Amino acid sequence: MARFRAATHLILGLETSCDETAAAVITQDGQILANVISSQADLHARYGGVVPEVASRRHLELVTPVLQEALRDAGPGLIGALLVGVAAAKAIAWARRLPLAPVDHLQGHIASLYLEPDPVEPPFLCLLASGGHTMLLDVQDRAGKARVLGTTLDDAAGEAFDKGARLLGLGYPGGAEIDRIARAGDPGEYDFPVARVPGLDFSFSGLKTALLYAVKDLPADELERRRADLAASYQSAIVRALVERAKQAAAELGTSKIAVVGGVAANSELRAALPPSTALAPLPLCTDNAAMIASAARFTDPIQYPRYLGLDAYASTA
Ligand code: KG4
Ligand code: ZN
Repeated sequence: MARFRAATHLILGLETSCDETAAAVITQDGQILANVISSQADLHARYGGVVPEVASRRHLELVTPVLQEALRDAGPGLIGALLVGVAAAKAIAWARRLPLAPVDHLQGHIASLYLEPDPVEPPFLCLLASGGHTMLLDVQDRAGKARVLGTTLDDAAGEAFDKGARLLGLGYPGGAEIDRIARAGDPGEYDFPVARVPGLDFSFSGLKTALLYAVKDLPADELERRRADLAASYQSAIVRALVERAKQAAAELGTSKIAVVGGVAANSELRAALPPSTALAPLPLCTDNAAMIASAARFTDPIQYPRYLGLDAYASTA
């Protein structure tokens, strides 16, 4: 183990911000040695969304086995650890007198682009679309903070997918379900409006209301029959909004390089609708994972042992 560590600098990434418990090991130059993700989606499906208390308890159960598997995949193992997320990271780092890099979740999504085998080089215009965020970012370098050019005024794109899926009687998480079902549907069947807001911002709440009205009075068998068309039309409207705005932002920024990250970047229609030159986050790195966190750790100032013991996890709205 010592020889292994001395030869290559390894980074252990942990991701427990929502309903994935994930651990990854990458090298300093961005090779993924292990990327283990244990989704809790099944657990939350029955509630139609993530229940925070249930998620925390499940993280507690999963964090040690997920860590152990990541470390096993990556080669010679470190130790297993105890607590959830930051606590687990602190425990591991402290026990081995290692530095700890606190990574912003959004920086993590952007850094999903910097891993081998096809790392993307800034500058680029980044569309970050997840369950909590929809942002257009001016990314100038790997380490600096990205400048926000536009953001959603209401729902995030992933949230729109999830809420739409619920209206259509599909399971959670909704984005992947809509993506799957839309393949059998006709996107021209329903004309869902994409709200146009000034500047480079987004708005998805009107779209959700339009879908609500379209399904509201449909009898169950009729909804069943039209579900694929509704999903395809709804998805198409979201994708159109994302692609148009991303292209507009790139033009205003004077760049032709667009990159897309976050859970919604897994959407097959979005991936196909973007210009061929677009840098798409690799599919397994779109939804939450720890390889992206470890990747961002390479460009984050680490806190030296043992000053990080007072470090707290916090949620941001930015
Ligand atoms: O980045 P992520 O895993 O978690 C957050 O940081 O929010 O993104 C999750 C979001 C969910 O809203 C989910 O419905 C959406 O990404 N998503 C998709 C697809 N796969 C996941 N949306 C559209 N199409 C997909 N294939
Ligand atoms: Zn995320």
